[in-house]
Amino acid sequence: MLFTRRNVMSLMAAGLAAPGWAASAVTLRPQAQTLNVAGRTLPMLAFNGSVPGPELRFRQGDTGHITLDNGLDDGALVHWHGLRVPNRMDGVNVLVQDVVVPGERFDYTLPLRDAGTFWYHSHYLSYEQVSLGLFGAFIVEEPDPPAVDHDITVQLFDMLLGADGQHDDSFDPARFATAGSLGNVKSAFPSRDKVRIGDRVRLRLINPSIDRIYAVDLSGLRGKVVALDGMPLATPRDLQTEVLAPGQRYDVIADVTGPVAIRDTYDGADDILGEIWTEGQRPIATSPIPSLPANPVAQPGKSYQTVSLILQGGAGGAEHRGTGTWALNDISGLPRQPLLRARRGETVRIELVNRTAFPHGMHLHGHHFHELDATGELGPLRDTALLNAGETRAVIAVFDNPGRWMLHCHMLSHQADGMATWCEVI
Ligand code: C2O
Ligand code: CU
Repeated sequence: MLFTRRNVMSLMAAGLAAPGWAASAVTLRPQAQTLNVAGRTLPMLAFNGSVPGPELRFRQGDTGHITLDNGLDDGALVHWHGLRVPNRMDGVNVLVQDVVVPGERFDYTLPLRDAGTFWYHSHYLSYEQVSLGLFGAFIVEEPDPPAVDHDITVQLFDMLLGADGQHDDSFDPARFATAGSLGNVKSAFPSRDKVRIGDRVRLRLINPSIDRIYAVDLSGLRGKVVALDGMPLATPRDLQTEVLAPGQRYDVIADVTGPVAIRDTYDGADDILGEIWTEGQRPIATSPIPSLPANPVAQPGKSYQTVSLILQGGAGGAEHRGTGTWALNDISGLPRQPLLRARRGETVRIELVNRTAFPHGMHLHGHHFHELDATGELGPLRDTALLNAGETRAVIAVFDNPGRWMLHCHMLSHQADGMATWCEVI
C-alpha cells in the first residue's frame, strides 16, 4: 500500500483538491468535519478529511480494494459512478446492498475494466450527503497513458450559502419542483494550480454538483476533447464549450498557451470557477493530440427491445400518477418491477422522453450507452444523458452486466423526489 499524501489542509485552503493516492488498497472514511472549502469555513461531510475526497488512482486491469469505514452518525454507501463493476459492489441500497450503519465497514472489490475519468460519491441520502462534500475523483489510467506534462483533475461544485455564510438548508419546496438546488457559490477544484506555458496537459473535468449544469469554457488551451464520461472518443473533437450535467465528465488533452480560466457560461452565466496559473515557459509541442484507446465495451446488436421512459412532473410539467414531485412512467421512486428486463448481452433501446419544463441528466448504473442522433446514428458512449426541457432522445445499451441497476436523474433533488427506476439484467 503506497500513499503519497501532501499537506491536505494547505492545499484545500488554496482551493485545491486533495492529492492523488496511487494505491491498490484504500480506506474511505466519511465523517462530519469543519473544513475550509472554497475559502470558507463550513461544517461539511468529508471523506478522509477533505472536500473533494481523496483522488483515487488505479491502472486499467487492476482491482481496487476500497474499505468504506463509516464515521458518520448516519448510514453510508459509496457508488463508483461510471465504473462497470459487479452489481453487488455498486453501492446502492434497496436494490443491491444494505446501508452501512455508523461504525461499520464494507469492503468494495472493484475490477477496473475501463480506463478513464470516473468519480465516487455517497449513494445514500445523496441529495444531502453529496451536497455536503461526499464525492471525489476516481481515475483509471491507461496501461500506456498518453504523454502529458500534467494530468489534472478539475471538479466543479456549488454550495448554497445563506446570508450568514453557512449552508442554507431551509427547505424550499419550489426548488424541488424546478431546476433543483442551485448553489450561489460555484467553484472549480483543480488538483494542480500551476503549469508552464507550452506544457501539454490532460484535464479531467467532473461535475459532482447535486443539481447544477455547467457550460464549461476553457481559455488558455489549444487542444481536443478526447473522452466523454470516461469513454474515449473515436475521433477527438476540437475544444469548445462543453455542457456538463451533474455526473458527467470530459477529458481534454491540450497545450497551454496562457493562464487557464475555467468559466461557466450556462444559461447566460459568465462566471470564473477557477484558474490554473502559468509560471515559466517551454516550447509548445508540435506533435498532434493523440486519441485514447477504446475501452472494451460490447457493440450493440442489430435487433433490440425498445422501452420508453417518460420523464414527468415538476413545475409546468406533464401530470402524472406518481406520489412525488417527479415521476418516471407514472411512478415516483423505485418501482417494485424493473423498467426493463434484459437477458445478459441483450441490446436495448430506451426512448427518453422529457415531458417536463426542466432539463434532466439521466444516469444508468453499471453500463454505458450510445446516444442516438436525429438520423439514428450511434453517438459517443456516455453514462449520463442530458435531456433539455421537452426533448426526446433514444439511447442504446448492451446490457451485459448482470444484476439490478438504477436508472435515475442525477439532479439529486429530482432523484430524491421521485425520478428513479431500475433495470434488471438476468
Ligand atoms: Cu452518480 Cu446513482 O449515481
Ligand atoms: Cu431531473
